[in-house]
Amino acid sequence: MRMRNYLSAILIVLMCGSGVVFASAKVELTVYTDEPVHAISPMLYGLFFEDINFAADGGLYAEQIRNRSFEFEEPLFGWSKVEQKGGQAQIAVLNTDPLNANNPHFLRLTAHENQGVVGVKNTGYAGITVKKEDHYLFSVYARSDKEFEAGLLIRLESSDGAVLGQSRISGIGSIWKQYSAVIEAKADDKDAVLALLVNGQGCVDLDMVSLFPEDTWKNQPNGLRADLVQMLADMKPSFIRFPGGCIVEGKDLANAYRWKDTIGDPAERKLNWNRWAGWNKPPEYYQSYGLGFFEFFRLCEDVGAEPVPILNCGMSCQYQDAQLVPLDKLKPYVQDALDLIEYANGSADSTWGAKRAAAGHPEPFCLKYLGVGNEQWDNQYFERYDIFYKAIKAKYPDIQIITTSGPGSDGKWFDLAWGKFRTGTPAEIVDEHYYRPPQWFLQNTDRYDNYDRNGPKVFAGEFAAHHPNRKNDLSAALAEAAFMTGLDRNSDVVVMASYAPLFARIDFTQWAPDLIWFDETQVYGTPSYYVQKLFSNYRGTTCLKNELNDTQNETHKASGRIGLCTWQTAAEFKDVKVAHADNVLFSSLKPEDWQAGNGKWQFDNGSCVQQDEQMQGAVCLAGDPGWSDYTLSLKARKISGEEGFIIIFRRDTSDNGVQFNLGGWGNTKHAIQKTEGPGTVIVTESPGSIEKDRWYDIQIALEGEYIRCLLDGQQVFSLNVPILSTDRVYASSSRDEQTKTIYIKAVNPTAESVALQVHLKGKIQVESNASVIVLTGLAGDAENTPEQPRNVYPATSIIDGIANDFDYVLKPYSLNLFQIKEK
Ligand code: AHR
Repeated sequence: MRMRNYLSAILIVLMCGSGVVFASAKVELTVYTDEPVHAISPMLYGLFFEDINFAADGGLYAEQIRNRSFEFEEPLFGWSKVEQKGGQAQIAVLNTDPLNANNPHFLRLTAHENQGVVGVKNTGYAGITVKKEDHYLFSVYARSDKEFEAGLLIRLESSDGAVLGQSRISGIGSIWKQYSAVIEAKADDKDAVLALLVNGQGCVDLDMVSLFPEDTWKNQPNGLRADLVQMLADMKPSFIRFPGGCIVEGKDLANAYRWKDTIGDPAERKLNWNRWAGWNKPPEYYQSYGLGFFEFFRLCEDVGAEPVPILNCGMSCQYQDAQLVPLDKLKPYVQDALDLIEYANGSADSTWGAKRAAAGHPEPFCLKYLGVGNEQWDNQYFERYDIFYKAIKAKYPDIQIITTSGPGSDGKWFDLAWGKFRTGTPAEIVDEHYYRPPQWFLQNTDRYDNYDRNGPKVFAGEFAAHHPNRKNDLSAALAEAAFMTGLDRNSDVVVMASYAPLFARIDFTQWAPDLIWFDETQVYGTPSYYVQKLFSNYRGTTCLKNELNDTQNETHKASGRIGLCTWQTAAEFKDVKVAHADNVLFSSLKPEDWQAGNGKWQFDNGSCVQQDEQMQGAVCLAGDPGWSDYTLSLKARKISGEEGFIIIFRRDTSDNGVQFNLGGWGNTKHAIQKTEGPGTVIVTESPGSIEKDRWYDIQIALEGEYIRCLLDGQQVFSLNVPILSTDRVYASSSRDEQTKTIYIKAVNPTAESVALQVHLKGKIQVESNASVIVLTGLAGDAENTPEQPRNVYPATSIIDGIANDFDYVLKPYSLNLFQIKEK
């Protein structure tokens, strides 16, 4: 604890008597209860679903069999042959006379003449989970040249072969037919297999081998995992965006998500590989589309959320193959959008409404929103969007169209999109995506304060705070919470928001952080999950004006550590010195004083060499994050490689800092860059290069936010690089007109407790008992894990004896949600 805070903490303890409160900073929050600012968007908080991290097959979709239709590139993936008691058999995947054209492969089991037992078994995703006395619904398409005496024996077995439950199918004829059976499990097992066994001689063909728990969400057929949906329902989401994400775009157009492929009989839904499978390995990650558009609509209905489908707009992922459907060939894509609206809303005797009715839902799904494209960018998108927009509005003027501003929170593509929306391109709701460091979220809580109140609305359609280590910890969640106080305050502009991605199956992930983690037996929420849940559950109907006054906030300093760095270059450094006026703070090239990251760093005889010529971003850091107003001087020499050197300064404890890049961009430019964020932000640049085998004198002088960079005594840059400060407390306030409750959300993302003084100003008088839900943990890096799923978990308590003015101590690293009843 810093000295000043330590003293004020002591003071507060003395003032309050021992054991009462211990808080080192005081912040006043004034809530103007008579000053509603705007209605809170009833759609404000919802969910983003994408089939990433096995969120659909192996996740939400309750099917237990992996590769049920033998359509994986490796067609026997997940399957193996069983030969017991001397039985002998052959298994093969064939495609002659298949079940249907969309499902062209099936498995043929040929049992040779013998007395034994033969068959096949499937291990599910990581073992099949069964619970004692639960029922499992088995089904299979089969045909056979022979009726096996004992039929087809369907068995759930533990990994050591013990029978957990079984059933039989008999009378298998020579044409494809679906057979089903119910199996009751006799014991718990999370590592079971499903075996399909015969004895006797002959051939049996199998396809669409399926096993569902009877207990799906709302017992729906072809249903969803009840425990996972419960987590979603508990969030009371206003909407569900589906099916993504980049998956909508596909790696290429052939891989793109087309909703018509995902409806109707699951046996006729053609498998597609999943673009999150990874680029260099055979895809083991597929989309069976068992969880298809019908099931998405049904899920929305079952949890009371508005469906928000996002459709491909005739472009594949611009980060990958970037294929475009020519404008004169776009019609089928546009038709997909029009047909989807009819599928969701048309009468049961319309062409597409009839398909919905045939699936068991004659009533419409009442679709109101439709997204055109995921995070596309550039004019190629807008040419296509324009065609979609006109066609949809001509036929369905009431459908709200969601358009995109590209993949980033700002930058060229973002500016291009918003420039268009401001100058005539029609836009109703603009999708914005930001995966940024926690610091960014803390520094951008006012992002929407100045958005045009009469312009397009915003859908914060994908966001999450990303630490460099991508951990789902409390500090990331609190940065999101702080940011979301800004969404609450601006929910006249930001009408919808959703964290992304939603799900991650443990050991099957391609992306972190995520909101909810699960495996075959358990599911748990991350700290971010509880933030989303609390904001969604307690949003109120009207936003109230509130003001924060942090009487003890310190001026934030432009401070930080120093660092040496190279990019595909080997270089030597010496005479490193950090001085504050005449006071030398640091002048060491001893390895113990440096923290080497990437690269091959060698310290010897007062110099330090980075030897790895290939490494992109070899970094070595030193010093104190509290250093400010210093001059860093050193000598550097390029040994070999593509570029020059990068000197880091003002670097904080995460990855935020500033760097002087000498001979960057293939040794063509010098630049000042900010190191924060997924990509380095360039502040300024100028032509320049670095010669090999020559010692350069480098000097960087810091005075507050002002930076001067010199090379061999010549000034290269002199500029201000402002630091964006963060606050101790972030808050939003709202009122629920129906329940006459005032909600205050107060976030303390710091490591110290804060004494909050709340003033409720206005005519409304409040009850003396209020409740407060606190989400906190022992440290900012506290996480929930499979072993400790509730390490960070909201706790509710009652605060007695409050009035319109009351004090409350916000714990370090906490989100605090007050519910105050009006008298
Ligand atoms: O949420 C993961 C991915 O992030 C989404 O698919 C994409 O839209 C974004 O880039």
